[in-house]
Amino acid sequence: MNILFLAAEATPFAKVGGLGDVAGALPWALKENLPDADIRLVLPLHLTVDAARWGLRPLAAFTVAHRNGPITAEVYATTHRGLPVYFIGGAPVAAIHGVYSTDPHADAVKYAFFSLAALALTRYLDWPPDILHAHDWHTALAVHALGHYRREGAFFAPTRSVLTVHNLPYMGPASPLLLDAFGLPPANEASGLPTWARSVPLPLGLAAADAITTVSPTYAREILTPEFGHGLEDFLRRRRERLHGILNGLDTDLWNPATDPALDVRYTATTLTLRERNAAALRQQVGLPQPEERLPLLGLVSRLTEQKGVDVVAEALRLLADFPWQAVLLGTGEPHLENALRRLEADFPDRVRAVLRYDDALARRIYAGADVLMMPSRYEPCGLAQMIAMRYGCVPVATETGGLADTVRDLDLHPRHSTGVLFPEATPKALAFALRRALALFPNRRRWQALQRRGMAQDFSWRQPARAYADLYRRLTP
Ligand code: GLC
Repeated sequence: MNILFLAAEATPFAKVGGLGDVAGALPWALKENLPDADIRLVLPLHLTVDAARWGLRPLAAFTVAHRNGPITAEVYATTHRGLPVYFIGGAPVAAIHGVYSTDPHADAVKYAFFSLAALALTRYLDWPPDILHAHDWHTALAVHALGHYRREGAFFAPTRSVLTVHNLPYMGPASPLLLDAFGLPPANEASGLPTWARSVPLPLGLAAADAITTVSPTYAREILTPEFGHGLEDFLRRRRERLHGILNGLDTDLWNPATDPALDVRYTATTLTLRERNAAALRQQVGLPQPEERLPLLGLVSRLTEQKGVDVVAEALRLLADFPWQAVLLGTGEPHLENALRRLEADFPDRVRAVLRYDDALARRIYAGADVLMMPSRYEPCGLAQMIAMRYGCVPVATETGGLADTVRDLDLHPRHSTGVLFPEATPKALAFALRRALALFPNRRRWQALQRRGMAQDFSWRQPARAYADLYRRLTP
């Protein structure tokens, strides 16, 4: 079985968010379940990709048709942990410095070009994929184009497509002119798409995909409702039998408190008390006072966007001003949310540290030192931080939505099987109340440690999810 993976980002080559973690892990996890499969990953050659470090060698050059004249695609290749990885460069890719830009048009051109060039690459290699697995709006046009190519010729006739939705609201810009320039038609009425969606990349891909997946079972149900469906709920409900919710895994080698080189002290579930030394080191690093007695340390590790409920954290901590806690908040993102965290630090100078940057090592030290990870997401297709937190013995306090609802079991609802605290909606009051429940248990060391250990014992590895994808591929291909 030939499996072609397309994504905008993948660790370790380029990573902005959770999509990068998934695309950098799933192809390799699949290999273990489908040892005979030929799995290949294609990424854009972002200017930030370190060609020398990854040993990229030039492989091919060909053109992608465009109304203003053909655009050259330059393809580089490497082998990473046993799988071929291709990188596609060209003027539209080089027009943007990083993975994404703030100019929606430049992004749309970059990813339309990338999607079509990736399909062209398979023809160049004379390697027809059995499965095209695309991710998010960036590569959804490959699925749309495949639908047309399949009708036009024999090469792609056997290819079946899977489109994974990591974040439904990000659909890509509507671009009828762009589609036309790349020789792609918009969708018609028969697609079942609402009129506004017929030239939008993600919906076009969803209409053409043989299977649609999203990254947790709960989110797969949620997107069928007006609250989470962003206008596509009716369309998705009609495609329900093609829609699957498959929970993401976690790279358990990359995220392991027993081996993590970023930690001062490494530990396991049986040496949990060593976490206290990591907490002390964390406090020292960020400049929080060392408490005389055991004092709960709250953590936040997040992209600072509306989705993640960062504003909710700032308000909830104000509501809890009378309770004993300290907090370390890490992330970058929208300026008004960075400011909200800055203000919180200014108002609680001896209790709060806001570190507004991307810092992988500090993130790891927070998972290993903080007692609680706050995750008040407004919606969460899967979420990775809560799984990492549990693996590191840090107790998640999270909204009961999407993948959070599928991975965390609540303290009071499941006292003997609980792994964290869940609350119904991303509001300051609800988060504050949930944190109060956690803080009330914290002094009971024995029960707190039992909660931590249950979290650490969960299997969040890619084993199960990879099996689920492998089954799906098998069902799609004859
Ligand atoms: C997006 C979603 C997040 C998910 C990730 C990987 O970033 O917001 O919930 O975990 O994609 O699928």
